Amino acid sequence: MRNLSGKVALVTGSSKGIGAGIAKRLAADGASVVVNYSRSAEDAELVVQAIAAAGGQAFAVQADLSRPEDIQPLVDAAVQRFGRLDILVNNAGVYQVDSLDSITAESVDMHFNLNVRGLLLVTQAAARVLPPGGVIVNISSGVATSPQPMVHVYSATKGAVDTLTRTLGTALGARRIRVVGIAPGFVATEGNAESAAAMAEHLVGKTPLGRVGQPSDIAAAVSYAVSEDAAWVTGTTLDVAGGLVF
Ligand SMILES: NC(=O)c1ccc[n+]([C@@H]2O[C@H](COP(=O)([O-])OP(=O)(O)OC[C@H]3O[C@@H](n4cnc5c(N)ncnc54)[C@H](OP(=O)(O)O)[C@@H]3O)[C@@H](O)[C@H]2O)c1
Repeated sequence: MRNLSGKVALVTGSSKGIGAGIAKRLAADGASVVVNYSRSAEDAELVVQAIAAAGGQAFAVQADLSRPEDIQPLVDAAVQRFGRLDILVNNAGVYQVDSLDSITAESVDMHFNLNVRGLLLVTQAAARVLPPGGVIVNISSGVATSPQPMVHVYSATKGAVDTLTRTLGTALGARRIRVVGIAPGFVATEGNAESAAAMAEHLVGKTPLGRVGQPSDIAAAVSYAVSEDAAWVTGTTLDVAGGLVF
């Protein structure tokens, strides 16, 4: 359904995984899409090419969102290229296994600098140009509400993301900008490919719908969140997890 014709979407961390799925889906819905990446230029170009081959519009922009100085140029590039910005999907995120004993200051900074500080500063820059009717989607995780002791730091970042979804929804409501969180369950992506085989059996066993999620499952929820069908939804986070409680 091409309900996003004329809209412009920026999807952070969309060279791979869930972000790539979201970028392709929003383009299929009719949006012009900015594909952001930090290191994977070739993967980002493949996403742009796939969107173009399907008749959509996209271009790729490098920006490491854990670096504050990369953030404003990313939003500026979107506006310069497409003339406006209507949708921001805060998807870029890192996750590493830890334990109370193995946590370091560096691992805390690495997670929080991208998953929380980066998300907040991109949102700040985007909010300055989003029009009434604009939408921000924050990609959270089921571990925000069922935190896991093998990912203390990551769980804490996603708890912070859910809190920001509420504060930002409150702050931006008067401008008719909505903020919606999407909390995926276990989704097969490049980022967890190495651990997926070991984790899949355990996590699928805890998933009532009995399978691993795909990026398209999360992209479908984002498509809803940014659509007029979600016009009365803000400041809240939707589980999209096949019923999995981590
Ligand atoms: N997969 C799951 O089961 C799952 C479950 C719940 C929530 N999530 C959340 O979903 C989001 C995407 O996860 P995923 O599994 O799709 O990850 P992924 O496969 O590792 O892909 C991560 C994406 O983020 C980009 N990225 C990484 N560091 C970045 C940075 N500093 N600046 C800008 N972009 C950066 C990567 O681009 P480069 O390669 O260029 O760095 C890549 O496009 C994350 O927020 C994650 O926490 C995932």
